[in-house]
Amino acid sequence: MVEFKAGAGLEGSGGTILAVPVFGDRTWGPGAEAATGAIGASVEARLDRADFSGKLGQVAVLSAQAGAPFEAYAFVGLGDEADTETVRQAAGWLARAVSRIDHVSTTLHMVDVEGAAKAFAEGFLLALYRFDKYRSEPQPAKTETLSFVGENGDDAKAAADAAVPAVIGTMLTRDLINEPANGKSPETLAGVAAAVAGEHSLRIRVYEPGEFAAERFGALAGVAAGAHNPARMVELWYEPEEPKAFLALVGKGIVFDSGGLSLKPAASMEEMKTDMSGAAVVFGAIQSIAALGLPIKVLGITPITENMPGGNATRPGDVLIPRNGTSIEVLNTDAEGRLVLADGLSLAAEQEPDLIVDIATLTGACHVALGDKIAGLWSNDQDAAERVLKASARTGERLWQMPLPADYRKAMDSDIADIKNISGGKYGGAIHAALFLAEYVGENPWVHLDIAGPARWTEEEHYQRKGGSGFGVRTLVALAEDMSA
Ligand code: BES
Ligand code: MN
Ligand code: ZN
Repeated sequence: MVEFKAGAGLEGSGGTILAVPVFGDRTWGPGAEAATGAIGASVEARLDRADFSGKLGQVAVLSAQAGAPFEAYAFVGLGDEADTETVRQAAGWLARAVSRIDHVSTTLHMVDVEGAAKAFAEGFLLALYRFDKYRSEPQPAKTETLSFVGENGDDAKAAADAAVPAVIGTMLTRDLINEPANGKSPETLAGVAAAVAGEHSLRIRVYEPGEFAAERFGALAGVAAGAHNPARMVELWYEPEEPKAFLALVGKGIVFDSGGLSLKPAASMEEMKTDMSGAAVVFGAIQSIAALGLPIKVLGITPITENMPGGNATRPGDVLIPRNGTSIEVLNTDAEGRLVLADGLSLAAEQEPDLIVDIATLTGACHVALGDKIAGLWSNDQDAAERVLKASARTGERLWQMPLPADYRKAMDSDIADIKNISGGKYGGAIHAALFLAEYVGENPWVHLDIAGPARWTEEEHYQRKGGSGFGVRTLVALAEDMSA
């Protein structure tokens, strides 16, 4: 991991390159004027040739004249209306441009944007993430230090250091999502949770299949029935002294979603190792919250299993009884996320936390509705919804609130059980899924996040890498910060 430092003045601090902010139409930001001086009279022509105008996403690296304080200068575009997310993204683009350089300095923390240094640190570190473990020739980033030079370098370093726990949590989540399904059985993931627990003195309880009947995890057991690898229900507790609030996080942990007997077409299965992203986000968030030592009690619950069509698999038409007793007629075994969450949410609801947040790659319908980069939010409590929306506004992880219309519930009335697991209609699939989950949260304030789109980033851009994004970790950490204030 890159080490943050508070550097000396713009006259040089031993760095190889100085990165300076530039706004739209080449309006110089803090330190940029000095950078142009170090490059010399050719600077405008060279920026012209690099097509650099100062737009967000542009980075121009120019070598300096002999005797200049730095060997090179990186001009980093921020566009016309820079905000926190702009700085985060610009830092990501910068990191991509300088990842082969050992010592980097910057003045980007000096731009007049709230939380600039923290956002810079997040964007810079997250952009350098790689998932290389299966490559014969890994190519890790070479950047070792990042110095904040100019004014307020010490404050910037402190803010950047404070950003690190949630970045590490996000990277853990990315690693788990990127891991192929043959490298992450439910047992393996429960082992990761145990390792997190060991590192941060969390209490952990791992339920094995032999306990599912006694614990009444009938829905998780039903989804797991067609799989060879045994399922797990994991309960993680972070219990600091004198907590200010109690937050429960529930994450969908389908390590591979084949659809079960309602088998998916081959193309739809390609990315279904991603279907444990909710559980991975819960692990990453709890790890971060514990590392930050936030004064809030957090319970993480992750039902983990494969959804496979083995000989003992749940059949369309079967009835499952989850922990709270609200029976389910399973008409489509591919709507399995809501089944395992029925048990997970029932378990969370019994603890009567101040807020339950579940996070899941739940529906293709949500992906269709909001696209690749925005998650859906549903809630039975508008105050709770707004708390989560407010946290997400600070992190750049975009959420959009969707409705929970009570009259849509009857589409899931079953002929023989309390509810069926699909509506049977073509439309509003993400809403029906949310209404289904609402049956298992009791009277508790609850927020549901459907991350079917953004759990996986589809392109290389700014601080996102193609693959598992870790979307949700930083928002849940920000929520925990707000609730512990
Ligand atoms: N894991 C999928 C949802 C999903 C689809 C996530 C695409 C990410 C990308 C979920 O278990 C599923 O299969 N949902 C079905 C529900 C349907 C059978 C009611 C879907 O969305 O098609
Ligand atoms: Mn499915
Ligand atoms: Zn699924």
